[in-house]
Amino acid sequence: MRVIIKDNYDTVAKWAASYVTYKINAYKPTPTKPFVLGLPTGSTPLGMYEELIKLYKAQKVSFENVVTFNMDEYVGLMPSHPQSYHYFMQENFFKYINLKPQNIHLLNGMTKDFAKECSEYERTMRKLGGVNLFIGGVGEDGHIAFNEPFSSLTSRTRVKTLTESTIKANSRFFDNDVSKVPTMALTVGVGTIMDAQEVMILATGKKKAEALKHGIEEGVSHMWTISELQRHPHGIIVCDKEATASLEKSTVEYFLDIERGKF
Ligand code: GLP
Repeated sequence: MRVIIKDNYDTVAKWAASYVTYKINAYKPTPTKPFVLGLPTGSTPLGMYEELIKLYKAQKVSFENVVTFNMDEYVGLMPSHPQSYHYFMQENFFKYINLKPQNIHLLNGMTKDFAKECSEYERTMRKLGGVNLFIGGVGEDGHIAFNEPFSSLTSRTRVKTLTESTIKANSRFFDNDVSKVPTMALTVGVGTIMDAQEVMILATGKKKAEALKHGIEEGVSHMWTISELQRHPHGIIVCDKEATASLEKSTVEYFLDIERGKF
């Protein structure tokens, strides 16, 4: 696993956006060989999206031959609901770039048939040859996408009940009212994310320090689903200094040293 430690939120955002740009350009995507990108929501990736929009406007990257799959969506929120992940992606990223509408994939949280929706999502990903780069954030309890603690580490896309801690953490987007937060979500599984050729997890702020400690220094465990990244051949964590607060000093020094000057 690589751990890229940057000074702050902004430099994490810049590094992540430059990396995505580099990967898309190196792949030289075409209509028949698109670059498949897995995308997260949340406050952590917002800065990266802003940077990617700037890079797109500066013609450093094009999304013309990029296909996206979002990680998750709340059950029961219309795409037009301001807290739905459909709305988030549209407002914070998609509307500014040249991604083709038919190349955008998000789980339909309004579906009546969860199983069908989820298996079709997986099938579409497979048909495209899988995900090239899956980007994610991490919850305070170490969850990736909505794979809450004790999710199977081989899980696939499915419906999940959200934990009290996640509902509480996400209530900040719902007028701080926990009763407004959906209790279920559709989410890609840990196994779905780990099938990607490369996985890049972004983590910023002190609140993510415990998740990083368990993800980087402790054993692989379904209690902290981020820890499965340890078994991925190309896993990257991009974090700021605050998020490394619970790591051993020697761990931080090791990664600062080995990643010095690398992209
Ligand atoms: C939600 C999302 C996750 C995200 C997490 C952290 O639970 N389902 O994909 O990583 O929040 O969000 P934030 O970046 O806002 O801390």
